Amino acid sequence: MACIQNVIVLICFLATVYSGSVKQDDSSKVELEQYIESKKSEINPRYRLHYHVTPPVGWMNDPNGFSYYNGEFHLFYQFYPYDSIWGPMHWGHVSSPDLVHWKQLPTALIPEAEMCFSGSAVVDDDTFTLIYTGREVIDEEPHYKESQYLAFSDDGINFHKYKGNPVLPSSDSADFRDPKVWKHGDKWYLVLGSKTHDERGKVVLYSSKDLKNWEYLSVIGESNGEMGYMWECPDFFELDGKFVLLMSPQGLEPKGDRYKNTYQTGYIIGSFSYETYEFIPEVEFQELDFGHDFYATQTMEHNGKRYVVGWFSMWEVPHPEDVDGWAGALTIVRELKLSGNRIIMKPVNEMVTLRQNSIIHGSLLPDQIINLPKASELIIEGDLTEDIELLLEGSMGGGKVWLRWNREAGKVIVDRGSGDIRQVEWVPTKSHSWRIFLDASSIELFCGEGEVVFSSRVYPHGDWILNNLSSQSLLIDAYHLERAVPA
Ligand code: FRU
Repeated sequence: MACIQNVIVLICFLATVYSGSVKQDDSSKVELEQYIESKKSEINPRYRLHYHVTPPVGWMNDPNGFSYYNGEFHLFYQFYPYDSIWGPMHWGHVSSPDLVHWKQLPTALIPEAEMCFSGSAVVDDDTFTLIYTGREVIDEEPHYKESQYLAFSDDGINFHKYKGNPVLPSSDSADFRDPKVWKHGDKWYLVLGSKTHDERGKVVLYSSKDLKNWEYLSVIGESNGEMGYMWECPDFFELDGKFVLLMSPQGLEPKGDRYKNTYQTGYIIGSFSYETYEFIPEVEFQELDFGHDFYATQTMEHNGKRYVVGWFSMWEVPHPEDVDGWAGALTIVRELKLSGNRIIMKPVNEMVTLRQNSIIHGSLLPDQIINLPKASELIIEGDLTEDIELLLEGSMGGGKVWLRWNREAGKVIVDRGSGDIRQVEWVPTKSHSWRIFLDASSIELFCGEGEVVFSSRVYPHGDWILNNLSSQSLLIDAYHLERAVPA
C-alpha cells in the first residue's frame, strides 16, 4: 500500500515537473527521486522502523519545518541521500493526516551554493513557506557563514527558493542557524541559535512583517558560561500560561546522571513580554528526554495542542543501521503540557490507532518470558514499593536493554549493557504505569503521565523477547502495532 502511494507521489511529482510549473533545478530533483527509488531495493530491512519516520535511503538528522498545511501535517528533515553519513544537507519531506501515519514526499530542498540546514515552516496567506539556514563555504576562517533563506510552495510538494535570498544575512557570529518562526498578532517572530564571541551559547530574537525583512529585537537566552558553547535548534512558545525556551546546547559538562549524551536537548521555563522582548527565566535548564538518542527537537501548535518531535539519534555515536543503507530516525510525536516546574510529554492520542491484535492482557509472572513483534506497545504496571526489572532482547540475539525501577533510589533506569546507562528520579503524579513503544531498532519509555521519558536506539536481531526479571508479578497489556511509514 505504502509502496503504491510512493509510486503515485513520484508520478505526480514527475508530471508537475515535466509540465514546466517548477523551476530550473527540476532535472536535478527528478534525478534525485530516481536515484532514491533505485537505491531503496538495496536497503537491508532488519533494523528498519515500522512507525517512525526514517530516510528512504541515506542519512537523516534534525526534524525541520514541522507544520500544518492544506489539511495535513508536514515534517521535513535534514537529509543526505547519497550515503548513510552526514553530507551536504537536503530537506527530506513526509506528510500525515494524523501525526502517526506518514507518507513519503519528494525531497523538498536540494543544496546549491548553500547547504540547506535546519529551519521551520509557516503558512503565509496560502503560501507554504520554508525558512532555513543556508550554510556557505567561504575562504576566511572559520570557512563557513550562515544566513537565513526562504523557499515557497503552493501545493505542499514542489518548493522553489526565493530569488532574494538570503533574507537575513549572516551576523557577527559564523554560527547563526536553525530559524524557528511563528506569528503573534500581525507580525512574524524568529529565534536563531548562535554563540557569543567568547563561546557561550545564545538565542536571538527577530521580527518581520513579511518574512523577508527582519529586525533584530533581543537576546532571549545566553549561557552563563556553564551552559555550553553553542545553542542549536531553538524553539520558543507559550505553554499553559508560561513561556518555554527549548534548545539543544552543545558543550554541557556531564554532572552525575545528567548530560551523558554527546549533546543535550532541554528547556528553560520563564516569562516573556512582547513589549520589552525580554525572557525572564524562572526554572533552570532541564532535559526534555532522558534516553540515549534524542536531539534537535522541533514543536508545532495545532488546535491548541503543542506537539514535539526529535531526532531519534545522536551525534558522534555508532549508527549500526548505516551499513544497511540508511541512518537516523525521528521519534514518535508527543504532546507537551506543563506540570508545575516541568514539561510532561505523552505520545499523541492517535498512537492507539496503530494497535492491532492484543498479544497478552493479564499478569506477567516472575521469570515469565513472552515473544513480541518488532513493532509493539506494552503497558506495564507493578508495585513501586518493590524493585522492577525487565529485559528486552532480540529473539535471535543482538541488542539488549534492561528497564529498571530502583525503589530505594527512586530512579528509573534504562541500561543498554556494559555500563551504557541513563537514569533519573521519577515521582509519579498520577498513573504508576509504564508505556513502552518498541520498534525494530528503538525503545521509547513513557513513565506515568510522561513525567519521565527515555528514547533510546537498541538493535535486536529478530523479534523482541520480554523477560520479567522482577521478583514481583506485573500487570501487562501488549499490542502488535501496524506499519505506519513506508518500508
Ligand atoms: C543540529 C544541527 C543544526 C544544523 C544541522 C545541520 O543537529 O547541527 O544546528 O542546522 O544539524 O545538519
